[in-house]
Amino acid sequence: MKKADLLITDAKELLTLQGNQEPRKTSEEMNNLSIINDGAIAIKDGLIAAVGTTGKILEGYRAKEIIPAKNKVVMPGFIDPHTHPVFYHTREKEFEMRILGKSYVEISQSGGGIRSSIASVRSASEDELYELAKKRVSKMICQGTTTLEAKSGYGLSTESEIKMLNVIKRLNETLPIDIVSTFMGAHEFPNEYQDNKEEYIRILKEEMMPAVREKDLAEFCDIFTEDHVYSIEQSRGILLRAKELGLKVRMHVDEIKPLGGAELAAEVGAVSAEHLGAASDQGIKALQEKGVVAVLLPGTIFSLGMKKYARARDMMKAGVAVALATDYNPGSCNCDSMQFIITLATLNMKMTVAEAITASTINAAHSLQRGDTLGSIEPGKKADILIMDMPSYRFLPYHFGSNNVETVIKEGKVIADQK
Ligand code: NIG
Ligand code: FE
Repeated sequence: MKKADLLITDAKELLTLQGNQEPRKTSEEMNNLSIINDGAIAIKDGLIAAVGTTGKILEGYRAKEIIPAKNKVVMPGFIDPHTHPVFYHTREKEFEMRILGKSYVEISQSGGGIRSSIASVRSASEDELYELAKKRVSKMICQGTTTLEAKSGYGLSTESEIKMLNVIKRLNETLPIDIVSTFMGAHEFPNEYQDNKEEYIRILKEEMMPAVREKDLAEFCDIFTEDHVYSIEQSRGILLRAKELGLKVRMHVDEIKPLGGAELAAEVGAVSAEHLGAASDQGIKALQEKGVVAVLLPGTIFSLGMKKYARARDMMKAGVAVALATDYNPGSCNCDSMQFIITLATLNMKMTVAEAITASTINAAHSLQRGDTLGSIEPGKKADILIMDMPSYRFLPYHFGSNNVETVIKEGKVIADQK
Protein backbone atom coordinates (compact mmCIF):
# COMPACT_ATOMS: atom_id res chain seq x y z
CA MET A 1 0.00 0.00 0.00
CA LYS A 2 1.48 3.36 -1.01
CA LYS A 3 0.97 6.52 1.03
CA ALA A 4 -0.64 9.56 -0.58
CA ASP A 5 -1.50 12.98 0.92
CA LEU A 6 -4.98 13.17 -0.55
CA LEU A 7 -7.36 10.89 -2.43
CA ILE A 8 -10.31 12.09 -4.49
CA THR A 9 -12.68 9.17 -5.00
CA ASP A 10 -16.05 8.14 -6.43
CA ALA A 11 -16.16 10.73 -9.21
CA LYS A 12 -19.10 10.05 -11.46
CA GLU A 13 -17.00 11.31 -14.37
CA LEU A 14 -13.28 11.91 -14.02
CA LEU A 15 -12.16 13.92 -17.06
CA THR A 16 -8.45 13.13 -17.27
CA LEU A 17 -7.65 14.51 -20.74
CA GLN A 18 -4.57 12.35 -20.53
CA GLY A 19 -2.38 10.96 -23.20
CA ASN A 20 -1.23 13.77 -25.44
CA GLN A 21 2.07 15.60 -25.19
CA GLU A 22 1.20 17.91 -28.07
CA PRO A 23 -1.66 20.42 -28.18
CA ARG A 24 -4.82 18.81 -29.53
CA LYS A 25 -5.30 19.98 -33.06
CA THR A 26 -8.32 18.27 -34.54
CA SER A 27 -11.93 17.96 -33.51
CA GLU A 28 -11.41 14.23 -33.00
CA GLU A 29 -8.53 14.81 -30.57
CA MET A 30 -10.38 17.60 -28.80
CA ASN A 31 -13.49 15.51 -28.27
CA ASN A 32 -11.56 12.81 -26.43
CA LEU A 33 -11.70 13.74 -22.72
CA SER A 34 -10.43 10.29 -21.58
CA ILE A 35 -13.20 9.89 -19.02
CA ILE A 36 -12.99 7.38 -16.17
CA ASN A 37 -16.39 6.54 -14.66
CA ASP A 38 -16.27 6.08 -10.88
CA GLY A 39 -12.82 7.63 -11.05
CA ALA A 40 -10.26 8.44 -8.37
CA ILE A 41 -6.96 10.30 -8.02
CA ALA A 42 -4.08 9.84 -5.59
CA ILE A 43 -2.11 13.00 -4.84
CA LYS A 44 1.33 13.20 -3.25
CA ASP A 45 3.58 16.24 -2.73
CA GLY A 46 1.32 18.44 -4.82
CA LEU A 47 1.53 16.14 -7.82
CA ILE A 48 -0.74 13.49 -9.25
CA ALA A 49 0.59 10.09 -8.19
CA ALA A 50 -2.03 7.83 -9.79
CA VAL A 51 -5.33 7.91 -11.64
CA GLY A 52 -7.84 5.08 -12.08
CA THR A 53 -11.15 3.68 -10.95
CA THR A 54 -12.01 4.17 -7.27
CA GLY A 55 -11.57 0.44 -6.65
CA LYS A 56 -8.11 0.39 -8.18
CA ILE A 57 -6.86 3.52 -6.40
CA LEU A 58 -8.19 2.34 -3.00
CA GLU A 59 -6.42 -0.98 -3.51
CA GLY A 60 -3.07 0.74 -4.05
CA TYR A 61 -3.18 3.89 -1.92
CA ARG A 62 -4.11 5.13 1.51
CA ALA A 63 -4.22 8.72 2.73
CA LYS A 64 -5.31 10.66 5.81
CA GLU A 65 -7.57 12.86 3.73
CA ILE A 66 -10.16 11.56 1.29
CA ILE A 67 -12.60 13.75 -0.63
CA PRO A 68 -15.50 11.74 -2.04
CA ALA A 69 -16.92 13.20 -5.25
CA LYS A 70 -20.03 11.06 -5.54
CA ASN A 71 -22.35 12.18 -8.35
CA LYS A 72 -19.85 14.88 -9.27
CA VAL A 73 -17.55 15.65 -12.17
CA VAL A 74 -13.81 15.92 -11.48
CA MET A 75 -11.67 17.70 -14.05
CA PRO A 76 -8.44 19.70 -14.49
CA GLY A 77 -8.43 23.30 -13.22
CA PHE A 78 -9.20 25.94 -15.82
CA ILE A 79 -6.25 27.66 -17.41
CA ASP A 80 -7.05 31.21 -18.53
CA PRO A 81 -4.26 32.19 -20.94
CA HIS A 82 -5.27 35.80 -21.71
CA THR A 83 -6.22 38.34 -19.03
CA HIS A 84 -5.62 42.00 -18.11
CA PRO A 85 -6.49 41.99 -14.37
CA VAL A 86 -4.27 44.90 -13.24
CA PHE A 87 -6.04 48.24 -13.73
CA TYR A 88 -7.42 50.97 -11.52
CA HIS A 89 -10.90 52.14 -12.50
CA THR A 90 -13.62 50.19 -14.28
CA ARG A 91 -15.23 51.37 -17.55
CA GLU A 92 -18.88 50.36 -17.35
CA LYS A 93 -19.88 53.61 -19.11
CA GLU A 94 -18.34 52.25 -22.32
CA PHE A 95 -20.46 49.11 -22.02
CA GLU A 96 -23.55 51.30 -22.06
CA MET A 97 -22.20 53.49 -24.88
CA ARG A 98 -21.89 50.32 -26.98
CA ILE A 99 -25.50 49.39 -26.21
CA LEU A 100 -26.45 52.83 -27.49
CA GLY A 101 -24.66 52.19 -30.76
CA LYS A 102 -21.01 53.29 -30.45
CA SER A 103 -18.34 50.80 -31.53
CA TYR A 104 -15.22 49.82 -29.54
CA VAL A 105 -12.98 51.64 -32.04
CA GLU A 106 -15.18 54.79 -32.02
CA ILE A 107 -15.10 54.86 -28.21
CA SER A 108 -11.35 54.40 -28.25
CA GLN A 109 -10.85 57.19 -30.80
CA SER A 110 -13.01 59.62 -28.84
CA GLY A 111 -10.97 59.45 -25.64
CA GLY A 112 -12.22 56.19 -24.12
CA GLY A 113 -10.72 52.75 -24.56
CA ILE A 114 -7.33 51.60 -23.36
CA ARG A 115 -5.92 55.15 -23.22
CA SER A 116 -8.57 56.18 -20.70
CA SER A 117 -7.20 53.55 -18.29
CA ILE A 118 -3.66 54.95 -18.36
CA ALA A 119 -3.84 58.05 -16.11
CA SER A 120 -5.36 56.26 -13.13
CA VAL A 121 -2.87 53.37 -13.36
CA ARG A 122 0.01 55.81 -13.53
CA SER A 123 -1.14 57.70 -10.44
CA ALA A 124 -2.10 54.63 -8.38
CA SER A 125 0.44 53.10 -6.03
CA GLU A 126 1.70 49.55 -6.49
CA ASP A 127 -0.13 48.56 -3.30
CA GLU A 128 -3.44 49.98 -4.52
CA LEU A 129 -3.16 48.14 -7.84
CA TYR A 130 -2.18 44.96 -6.04
CA GLU A 131 -5.18 45.05 -3.71
CA LEU A 132 -7.63 45.63 -6.56
CA ALA A 133 -6.12 42.90 -8.74
CA LYS A 134 -5.92 40.47 -5.84
CA LYS A 135 -9.66 40.75 -5.30
CA ARG A 136 -10.34 40.20 -8.98
CA VAL A 137 -8.07 37.16 -9.27
CA SER A 138 -9.57 35.71 -6.08
CA LYS A 139 -12.96 35.71 -7.81
CA MET A 140 -11.46 33.87 -10.76
CA ILE A 141 -10.05 31.24 -8.41
CA CYS A 142 -13.49 30.63 -6.86
CA GLN A 143 -14.74 29.98 -10.38
CA GLY A 144 -12.12 27.35 -11.05
CA THR A 145 -9.14 29.13 -12.57
CA THR A 146 -5.95 27.51 -11.28
CA THR A 147 -3.50 29.14 -13.72
CA LEU A 148 -3.74 32.41 -15.54
CA GLU A 149 -1.71 34.66 -17.76
CA ALA A 150 -1.72 38.37 -16.86
CA LYS A 151 -0.57 41.27 -19.02
CA SER A 152 0.72 44.75 -18.29
CA GLY A 153 -0.27 47.48 -20.78
CA TYR A 154 -2.18 50.15 -18.88
CA GLY A 155 0.92 52.09 -17.83
CA LEU A 156 2.64 52.73 -21.18
CA SER A 157 5.73 54.29 -19.60
CA THR A 158 8.77 52.43 -18.33
CA GLU A 159 8.02 53.25 -14.71
CA SER A 160 4.34 52.35 -14.75
CA GLU A 161 4.74 49.23 -16.88
CA ILE A 162 7.34 48.00 -14.38
CA LYS A 163 4.90 48.86 -11.58
CA MET A 164 2.21 46.72 -13.23
CA LEU A 165 4.61 43.83 -13.76
CA ASN A 166 5.68 44.06 -10.12
CA VAL A 167 2.00 43.73 -9.18
CA ILE A 168 1.71 40.61 -11.36
CA LYS A 169 4.84 39.19 -9.73
CA ARG A 170 3.40 39.83 -6.28
CA LEU A 171 0.09 38.22 -7.25
CA ASN A 172 1.99 35.14 -8.38
CA GLU A 173 3.95 35.03 -5.13
CA THR A 174 1.01 35.59 -2.78
CA LEU A 175 -2.02 33.93 -4.40
CA PRO A 176 -2.21 30.15 -4.48
CA ILE A 177 -2.31 29.81 -8.28
CA ASP A 178 0.25 30.10 -11.10
CA ILE A 179 0.29 33.50 -12.78
CA VAL A 180 2.28 33.84 -16.00
CA SER A 181 3.53 37.34 -16.74
CA THR A 182 3.33 39.11 -20.11
CA PHE A 183 4.73 42.54 -20.98
CA MET A 184 2.30 44.51 -23.14
CA GLY A 185 3.77 48.00 -23.45
CA ALA A 186 2.50 47.89 -27.05
CA HIS A 187 -1.16 47.78 -26.00
CA GLU A 188 -1.79 51.33 -27.33
CA PHE A 189 0.15 54.55 -27.94
CA PRO A 190 -0.06 56.84 -24.91
CA ASN A 191 -1.59 60.31 -25.43
CA GLU A 192 1.75 62.11 -25.27
CA TYR A 193 3.08 60.13 -28.26
CA GLN A 194 -0.02 60.21 -30.48
CA ASP A 195 1.83 62.57 -32.85
CA ASN A 196 5.19 60.86 -32.49
CA LYS A 197 4.52 57.14 -32.51
CA GLU A 198 8.00 56.27 -33.76
CA GLU A 199 9.48 57.77 -30.59
CA TYR A 200 7.22 55.60 -28.40
CA ILE A 201 8.29 52.54 -30.39
CA ARG A 202 11.92 53.53 -29.82
CA ILE A 203 11.28 53.80 -26.06
CA LEU A 204 9.57 50.40 -26.12
CA LYS A 205 12.51 48.76 -27.86
CA GLU A 206 15.40 50.59 -26.26
CA GLU A 207 14.19 51.35 -22.75
CA MET A 208 11.11 49.42 -21.63
CA MET A 209 11.86 45.99 -23.02
CA PRO A 210 15.49 45.89 -21.83
CA ALA A 211 14.36 47.08 -18.35
CA VAL A 212 11.68 44.38 -18.19
CA ARG A 213 14.22 41.76 -19.20
CA GLU A 214 16.86 42.97 -16.83
CA LYS A 215 14.45 42.70 -13.90
CA ASP A 216 13.16 39.38 -15.25
CA LEU A 217 9.56 40.54 -14.92
CA ALA A 218 7.96 38.89 -17.94
CA GLU A 219 8.08 35.63 -19.83
CA PHE A 220 6.10 36.80 -22.86
CA CYS A 221 5.74 39.97 -24.92
CA ASP A 222 2.31 40.78 -26.40
CA ILE A 223 1.13 43.48 -28.84
CA PHE A 224 -2.24 44.79 -30.08
CA THR A 225 -1.91 44.53 -33.85
CA GLU A 226 -4.96 46.22 -35.36
CA ASP A 227 -5.73 49.11 -37.71
CA HIS A 228 -6.17 51.72 -34.97
CA VAL A 229 -3.14 50.69 -32.90
CA TYR A 230 0.02 48.84 -34.12
CA SER A 231 0.46 48.18 -37.84
CA ILE A 232 1.93 44.95 -39.19
CA GLU A 233 5.25 46.71 -39.91
CA GLN A 234 5.47 48.29 -36.45
CA SER A 235 4.49 45.00 -34.81
CA ARG A 236 7.13 43.03 -36.68
CA GLY A 237 9.90 45.37 -35.52
CA ILE A 238 8.76 45.33 -31.89
CA LEU A 239 8.35 41.56 -31.76
CA LEU A 240 11.71 40.83 -33.36
CA ARG A 241 13.29 43.06 -30.73
CA ALA A 242 11.39 41.16 -28.01
CA LYS A 243 12.73 37.88 -29.34
CA GLU A 244 16.24 39.27 -29.52
CA LEU A 245 15.95 40.08 -25.80
CA GLY A 246 14.72 36.57 -25.01
CA LEU A 247 11.01 37.22 -24.56
CA LYS A 248 8.56 34.75 -26.08
CA VAL A 249 5.79 36.19 -28.20
CA ARG A 250 1.98 36.13 -28.09
CA MET A 251 -0.20 38.56 -30.05
CA HIS A 252 -3.64 40.24 -30.15
CA VAL A 253 -4.42 39.88 -33.86
CA ASP A 254 -7.20 40.15 -36.44
CA GLU A 255 -9.78 41.04 -33.79
CA ILE A 256 -11.74 43.51 -35.88
CA LYS A 257 -10.14 43.42 -39.36
CA PRO A 258 -8.20 40.70 -41.22
CA LEU A 259 -4.99 42.71 -41.16
CA GLY A 260 -2.63 39.76 -41.61
CA GLY A 261 -1.87 39.49 -37.90
CA ALA A 262 -2.21 35.71 -37.86
CA GLU A 263 0.28 35.49 -40.72
CA LEU A 264 2.68 37.73 -38.78
CA ALA A 265 2.28 35.57 -35.66
CA ALA A 266 3.35 32.56 -37.74
CA GLU A 267 6.20 34.48 -39.35
CA VAL A 268 7.74 35.64 -36.06
CA GLY A 269 7.26 32.26 -34.34
CA ALA A 270 4.67 33.44 -31.81
CA VAL A 271 3.55 30.84 -29.28
CA SER A 272 -0.05 31.99 -29.67
CA ALA A 273 -2.28 34.26 -31.75
CA GLU A 274 -5.28 35.60 -29.84
CA HIS A 275 -8.72 37.05 -30.73
CA LEU A 276 -8.73 36.08 -34.46
CA GLY A 277 -12.41 37.01 -34.91
CA ALA A 278 -11.60 38.27 -38.40
CA ALA A 279 -8.70 35.96 -39.33
CA SER A 280 -8.51 35.07 -43.03
CA ASP A 281 -8.16 31.60 -44.59
CA GLN A 282 -4.48 32.31 -45.28
CA GLY A 283 -4.08 33.39 -41.65
CA ILE A 284 -5.56 30.13 -40.40
CA LYS A 285 -3.32 28.14 -42.75
CA ALA A 286 -0.25 30.02 -41.50
CA LEU A 287 -1.12 29.22 -37.87
CA GLN A 288 -1.46 25.54 -38.73
CA GLU A 289 1.84 25.44 -40.64
CA LYS A 290 3.81 26.98 -37.79
CA GLY A 291 1.96 25.28 -34.91
CA VAL A 292 0.78 28.57 -33.38
CA VAL A 293 -2.00 28.05 -30.81
CA ALA A 294 -5.19 30.05 -31.54
CA VAL A 295 -6.50 31.55 -28.28
CA LEU A 296 -10.13 32.51 -28.91
CA LEU A 297 -11.96 35.08 -26.78
CA PRO A 298 -15.71 34.76 -27.36
CA GLY A 299 -16.45 36.86 -24.25
CA THR A 300 -14.98 39.89 -25.99
CA ILE A 301 -17.11 39.50 -29.12
CA PHE A 302 -20.13 39.03 -26.84
CA SER A 303 -19.36 42.06 -24.69
CA LEU A 304 -18.60 44.24 -27.71
CA GLY A 305 -22.02 43.32 -29.08
CA MET A 306 -20.43 41.99 -32.27
CA LYS A 307 -22.00 39.21 -34.27
CA LYS A 308 -19.05 37.51 -35.91
CA TYR A 309 -17.23 35.05 -33.67
CA ALA A 310 -13.87 33.45 -34.49
CA ARG A 311 -14.17 30.46 -36.83
CA ALA A 312 -13.27 27.78 -34.31
CA ARG A 313 -14.68 24.95 -36.44
CA ASP A 314 -12.65 25.99 -39.51
CA MET A 315 -9.55 26.23 -37.33
CA MET A 316 -9.98 22.73 -35.90
CA LYS A 317 -10.71 21.44 -39.40
CA ALA A 318 -7.46 22.99 -40.59
CA GLY A 319 -5.54 21.36 -37.72
CA VAL A 320 -4.98 24.47 -35.60
CA ALA A 321 -4.85 23.95 -31.82
CA VAL A 322 -7.66 26.04 -30.31
CA ALA A 323 -7.62 27.37 -26.73
CA LEU A 324 -10.10 29.62 -24.91
CA ALA A 325 -9.60 32.53 -22.50
CA THR A 326 -11.66 35.23 -20.80
CA ASP A 327 -9.67 38.31 -21.94
CA TYR A 328 -10.75 39.73 -18.56
CA ASN A 329 -10.15 43.51 -18.79
CA PRO A 330 -11.89 46.79 -17.86
CA GLY A 331 -12.94 47.68 -21.40
CA SER A 332 -13.88 45.07 -23.96
CA CYS A 333 -14.66 42.13 -21.66
CA ASN A 334 -15.17 42.29 -17.89
CA CYS A 335 -15.75 38.54 -17.56
CA ASP A 336 -13.84 36.51 -14.97
CA SER A 337 -15.50 33.13 -15.55
CA MET A 338 -14.05 30.43 -17.79
CA GLN A 339 -17.36 28.61 -17.31
CA PHE A 340 -19.25 31.42 -19.04
CA ILE A 341 -16.63 31.47 -21.82
CA ILE A 342 -17.32 27.76 -22.38
CA THR A 343 -21.04 28.53 -22.69
CA LEU A 344 -20.29 31.22 -25.29
CA ALA A 345 -17.87 28.96 -27.18
CA THR A 346 -20.46 26.23 -27.49
CA LEU A 347 -23.40 28.45 -28.40
CA ASN A 348 -21.68 30.95 -30.66
CA MET A 349 -18.69 29.10 -32.12
CA LYS A 350 -20.46 25.73 -32.22
CA MET A 351 -17.69 23.98 -30.31
CA THR A 352 -18.84 20.79 -28.65
CA VAL A 353 -18.76 20.81 -24.86
CA ALA A 354 -15.78 18.43 -24.91
CA GLU A 355 -13.89 20.63 -27.39
CA ALA A 356 -14.50 23.70 -25.24
CA ILE A 357 -13.26 21.88 -22.12
CA THR A 358 -10.12 20.72 -23.95
CA ALA A 359 -9.58 24.31 -25.13
CA SER A 360 -9.85 25.59 -21.53
CA THR A 361 -7.48 23.06 -19.99
CA ILE A 362 -4.79 21.14 -21.89
CA ASN A 363 -4.72 23.37 -24.99
CA ALA A 364 -4.70 26.49 -22.82
CA ALA A 365 -1.72 24.98 -20.96
CA HIS A 366 0.08 24.47 -24.26
CA SER A 367 -0.63 28.07 -25.24
CA LEU A 368 1.45 29.04 -22.18
CA GLN A 369 4.08 26.36 -22.96
CA ARG A 370 3.08 24.49 -19.83
CA GLY A 371 1.53 21.42 -21.40
CA ASP A 372 4.13 19.22 -19.73
CA THR A 373 3.10 20.15 -16.17
CA LEU A 374 -0.48 21.44 -16.35
CA GLY A 375 -3.82 20.96 -18.09
CA SER A 376 -4.61 17.26 -17.61
CA ILE A 377 -4.94 14.75 -14.80
CA GLU A 378 -2.10 12.29 -15.25
CA PRO A 379 0.77 11.06 -13.08
CA GLY A 380 3.58 13.57 -12.65
CA LYS A 381 1.51 16.67 -13.41
CA LYS A 382 0.55 19.30 -10.85
CA ALA A 383 -2.57 18.27 -8.93
CA ASP A 384 -4.71 21.21 -10.14
CA ILE A 385 -8.20 19.79 -9.92
CA LEU A 386 -11.84 20.92 -9.82
CA ILE A 387 -14.73 19.11 -8.23
CA MET A 388 -17.81 20.28 -10.09
CA ASP A 389 -21.31 20.10 -8.69
CA MET A 390 -22.82 18.56 -11.78
CA PRO A 391 -23.91 15.12 -12.93
CA SER A 392 -22.15 15.15 -16.29
CA TYR A 393 -19.59 17.34 -18.06
CA ARG A 394 -22.32 18.28 -20.56
CA PHE A 395 -24.05 20.19 -17.73
CA LEU A 396 -21.27 22.81 -17.68
CA PRO A 397 -22.36 25.24 -20.44
CA TYR A 398 -26.01 24.35 -20.04
CA HIS A 399 -26.12 25.69 -16.48
CA PHE A 400 -24.78 29.16 -17.21
CA GLY A 401 -24.58 32.36 -15.21
CA SER A 402 -23.89 30.31 -12.11
CA ASN A 403 -20.81 28.81 -10.51
CA ASN A 404 -20.71 25.03 -11.01
CA VAL A 405 -17.39 24.72 -9.16
CA GLU A 406 -17.58 23.21 -5.70
CA THR A 407 -13.95 22.63 -4.70
CA VAL A 408 -10.76 24.06 -6.21
CA ILE A 409 -7.52 22.18 -5.59
CA LYS A 410 -4.15 23.63 -6.54
CA GLU A 411 -1.01 21.50 -6.23
CA GLY A 412 -2.88 19.14 -3.94
CA LYS A 413 -4.26 21.79 -1.57
CA VAL A 414 -7.89 22.90 -1.32
CA ILE A 415 -7.82 26.63 -2.13
CA ALA A 416 -11.58 27.23 -2.44
CA ASP A 417 -14.44 25.22 -1.06
CA GLN A 418 -17.99 26.21 -1.87
CA LYS A 419 -19.94 23.20 -0.69
O1 NIG B 1 -7.93 42.16 -25.50
N1 NIG B 1 -7.52 44.18 -27.45
C1 NIG B 1 -6.80 44.78 -26.65
N2 NIG B 1 -6.87 44.70 -25.34
C2 NIG B 1 -8.00 44.33 -24.66
C3 NIG B 1 -8.90 45.49 -24.45
C4 NIG B 1 -8.42 46.31 -23.35
C5 NIG B 1 -9.27 47.50 -23.01
O2 NIG B 1 -10.19 47.89 -23.75
O3 NIG B 1 -8.95 48.05 -21.96
C6 NIG B 1 -8.63 43.17 -25.38
O4 NIG B 1 -9.77 43.22 -25.83
FE1 FE C 1 -6.72 41.24 -24.44
